[in-house]
Amino acid sequence: MSKFLNIINDISRLHHRAAFSDLPQRIAAKDSVFQTLARERYTCRKFKNTKLSDVEISHILEAGRLAPSAKNAQPVHVWVARSDEALEKIGQTSKSIYGAPVVLIVGCKPEDAWVRELDGKNEAEVDAAIAATYMMLEATALELGSVWVGSFDPAKVHELFPETSGWDIVCLLPVGHPDMEPGPNHAKRKAKEEFATEL
Ligand SMILES: Cc1cc2nc3c(=O)[nH]c(=O)nc-3n(C[C@H](O)[C@H](O)[C@H](O)COP(=O)(O)O)c2cc1C
Repeated sequence: MSKFLNIINDISRLHHRAAFSDLPQRIAAKDSVFQTLARERYTCRKFKNTKLSDVEISHILEAGRLAPSAKNAQPVHVWVARSDEALEKIGQTSKSIYGAPVVLIVGCKPEDAWVRELDGKNEAEVDAAIAATYMMLEATALELGSVWVGSFDPAKVHELFPETSGWDIVCLLPVGHPDMEPGPNHAKRKAKEEFATEL
């Protein structure tokens, strides 16, 4: 059974005892399921030579599809590169593919997005970033590795994948079975006081 199913089971056992016990204190003392997932995710830059199943890919895409977007405009599209030909082409657009068996290309269409009237801020990239984040976290839940890649050539993506024309490419997400532990940056985060301030 996966680590996450174990945690869910554990929490549901706690629920059954809730009427009699110190449930709130127990929950406060341990990470939530989500926080465990968020801690588990790390940037993966080395993948095993194992293909992903259709079910794994479909779960990851579904997580992105479920993501919220401004005014529910959903100005996001994802292209899945996993054939040898598509992987060879995506490899020409970035040095950060790391041999992943699947690369998700995440795009957004600003014309379809909600725009804040007061200052004209277009939320398309924000919506795409949320969808991409959901997909990374679903990959983690499936015990897969992923990396958010911002370092790519968007013009080359458009040239090699004409179906992406008219879309802004927000990131590439190489996904696969991890073949490395978290890197040093993963443990480096701002202190809580620096991250958030009470007003
Ligand atoms: C917007 C964004 C762009 C990134 N671009 C790249 C990239 O092009 N290549 C890469 O190897 N990692 C990239 N990363 C991964 C970060 O370097 C990594 O998330 C950060 O160092 C923290 O490490 P962790 O993800 O293991 O916690 C990017 C991450 C984000 C959020």
